[in-house]
Amino acid sequence: MEQQLNQLKEEALGAIRSADSVRSLNDIRVKYLGKKGPITDLLKGMGKLPAEERPKMGALVNEVRGKVTEVLEARMAVLEEEAVSRKLEAEAIDVTLPGTPAGTGNHHPLTRIVEEIEDFFISMGYEVAEGPEVEKDYYNFEALNLPKGHPARDMQDSFYITEDVLLRTHTSPVQARTMEAKEGQPFRIICPGKVYRRDNDDATHSHQFTQIEGLVVGENIRMSDLKGTLDRFAKKMFGEEREIRLRPSYFPFTEPSVEMDISCFKCGGEGCNVCKGTGWIEILGAGMVHPNVLRMGGYDPDVMSGFAFGMGPERIAMLKYGIDDIRHFYTDDVRFIAQFHRAEG
Ligand code: PHE
Repeated sequence: MEQQLNQLKEEALGAIRSADSVRSLNDIRVKYLGKKGPITDLLKGMGKLPAEERPKMGALVNEVRGKVTEVLEARMAVLEEEAVSRKLEAEAIDVTLPGTPAGTGNHHPLTRIVEEIEDFFISMGYEVAEGPEVEKDYYNFEALNLPKGHPARDMQDSFYITEDVLLRTHTSPVQARTMEAKEGQPFRIICPGKVYRRDNDDATHSHQFTQIEGLVVGENIRMSDLKGTLDRFAKKMFGEEREIRLRPSYFPFTEPSVEMDISCFKCGGEGCNVCKGTGWIEILGAGMVHPNVLRMGGYDPDVMSGFAFGMGPERIAMLKYGIDDIRHFYTDDVRFIAQFHRAEG
């Protein structure tokens, strides 16, 4: 029995030494020291031994159990520590590695140009006004001296929703709305917003684009005020050396009507690809508010007068930044937008 016990001890110690995980060591503990294990069996079998051998054998079994327990516990401590450091190693973070750059956003070039234009006019005492994109035929056309059946309605192909409601084709309805709201008082407004036309999209056309409308109404507002304002504006947006020229044009809501060109900022007037060889670039439409429009807006054209202008900020941004396709503004390609990081803050 003593021999059997020694063999058991060697076997258990060998198993403990080669155990490579906390789990297998626990299995070994159950196998050798558990209630159904061989050591328990030996202790149970003691009763069959002659009385004089019992104390000696009892001591021996206890010694083996003590030794196996001790070695097992020591090995357990080592394996547990190893497991902890393996875990720590797996979770380790190299704080010296570079981080993932979050990137900073920037304004869309269109937002940027609209804000630049707004800032200029705000500095000249204008208020920013807004109006609905789904507009009544009355404000989009009638109140702007474009009665039903007027041929000039064809200048702006429209998306009708009902017979009397449409997606506004220009920001000019805000003129009519503002005149109504101001009830005969003088004012200066600038109105940026989306407009819609039944156009096929290509590099220079879009069924939805942006306009900025300007309107000044008061006593003694003259064509020279319009010209001076547009001249300042052109110089602010395209450089102090810019010249402007006004060409006669036609809009039903202004009389006289003009189109404004600026001297080419690329060639300075000699002729290049930007100005198509003419030395001039068309920027906007404008004119003196038509007496009919003033009257419908509640202003007496014998006492009050006004000027108005309308421009497309996409066109201005395209010229200013050399963008060759209007669709770039709406397709949200971040590579396009990211080129317009505001350097001036
Ligand atoms: N509303 C005109 C257009 O869309 C532009 C314009 C506005 C012209 C104001 C004159 C005065 O073509």
